[in-house]
Amino acid sequence: MRNITQHNVTDAVRKSFEAIDDTRLRFLIERLVTAVHGYARDTGLTHEEWRAALDFLNRAAAISNASRSEFTLLSDVLGLSSLVDLLAASPGATEGSVLGPFHSRGSPWVESGASLIKDNPGEPVLLRGRVTDTQGLPIPAATVDFWQNADNGLYWQLDSSQPQDNLRCQLRVQPDATFELMVIRPRPYMVPTDGPIGDLLRVSHRDAWRPAHYHVIVEAPGYRTLVTEIFDAEDPYVAQDAVFGVRESLVADFKPGNDPAVREKYQLAGAYRVVDCPVKLAPAA
Ligand SMILES: [Fe+2]
Repeated sequence: MRNITQHNVTDAVRKSFEAIDDTRLRFLIERLVTAVHGYARDTGLTHEEWRAALDFLNRAAAISNASRSEFTLLSDVLGLSSLVDLLAASPGATEGSVLGPFHSRGSPWVESGASLIKDNPGEPVLLRGRVTDTQGLPIPAATVDFWQNADNGLYWQLDSSQPQDNLRCQLRVQPDATFELMVIRPRPYMVPTDGPIGDLLRVSHRDAWRPAHYHVIVEAPGYRTLVTEIFDAEDPYVAQDAVFGVRESLVADFKPGNDPAVREKYQLAGAYRVVDCPVKLAPAA
């Protein structure tokens, strides 16, 4: 088309993508063009604002690396991650929650019943659960990918004082589909504010705090992968998560534990907490 105007440009751009073979991808791109053009029209987007937005994205790219994704964080603080989770919810299955920017593949494999505490300070917590389908039948082929922050609130990737892979692991559930780990009580923490997302939060007078939580990904052949979090019911930020990840069903009581056999098994000198984490997976579509 040699006469592009503000009235035909959106259609012209949409048409330029019509040759995409994958029908779903074609649909997504066409709707994206419609949405971003609509945004520019609705807001009367200026050159300065458009350049500032591109600069924002460029700064997000520049601060991202293999263990930190500023784009994931952008999706999180915009509530997009949560919306995608909520739209994908399966009736009867455990609710999903945000992946967050600190997951990386390749956590060390451990046996169910391992302790991740090692030299970490913090309150010991026995995290235990069972992976079932939505009818309650056990799924013994399930695997669990777990990660949490240390007692200083930091994940190992951002804290050179922690050993590599601190407080993260993968495990296969037991033949009865149960699993347990000895971990520490997680801490509330602020999402990273040294990048462009920090600027966005500051200009919005928004809190950067996330309530204390564990992250888990549960996978099994034939079932939808569950990416979720388990929140500490006593956390002061549980009602004001910066990334909108809290669901009532994912808020857990950290119950006092007092079983001498547990203390013996995990060589605990004193008190510990118990968190029950039943997991229900939906069948794959
Ligand atoms: Fe987290």
